[in-house]
Amino acid sequence: MPADYETLAKTIASLTEGETDEVALMATVVCELHHADDRFDWTGFYRVTEPELLKIGPYQGGHGCLVIPFARGVCGAAARTGEVQLVPDVEAFPGHIACSSSTRSEIVLPVRNRDGQIIGVLDIDSDRPDAFDETDARELEAILTSVFAR
Ligand code: SME
Repeated sequence: MPADYETLAKTIASLTEGETDEVALMATVVCELHHADDRFDWTGFYRVTEPELLKIGPYQGGHGCLVIPFARGVCGAAARTGEVQLVPDVEAFPGHIACSSSTRSEIVLPVRNRDGQIIGVLDIDSDRPDAFDETDARELEAILTSVFAR
């Protein structure tokens, strides 16, 4: 069942109201997103911990790789370009990093703080091919902005 993004955004806003700790915010967002949509088989953040480097943050699903340089993977592409990566077929994405052999499609969004700096990426994997679309990108971006750029 695809997420009801309007309800999801309200729930996340309520749960995170007044909180400023990034890890606490990430853990809450990931929990709510992951359990709201059966397309989401892996939901997690990678954090910018030093220039050109991402390290895993709060996530739900099977184990994720710990470190991703900006030069690699779908996550690195989102962090490097600052653009949403909408990947209908991960096997067609050059340099895709497969944390799970069951992943078929993926969406990765840059996460910006109130100063516009990229502090990480939100990575959602699906075992379904072509699971994500522009609506997901738009709605997820709106949730990320409301939580991390407020
Ligand atoms: N697929 C990602 C790596 C993270 S695992 O999927 C959790 C990538 O290519 O950057």
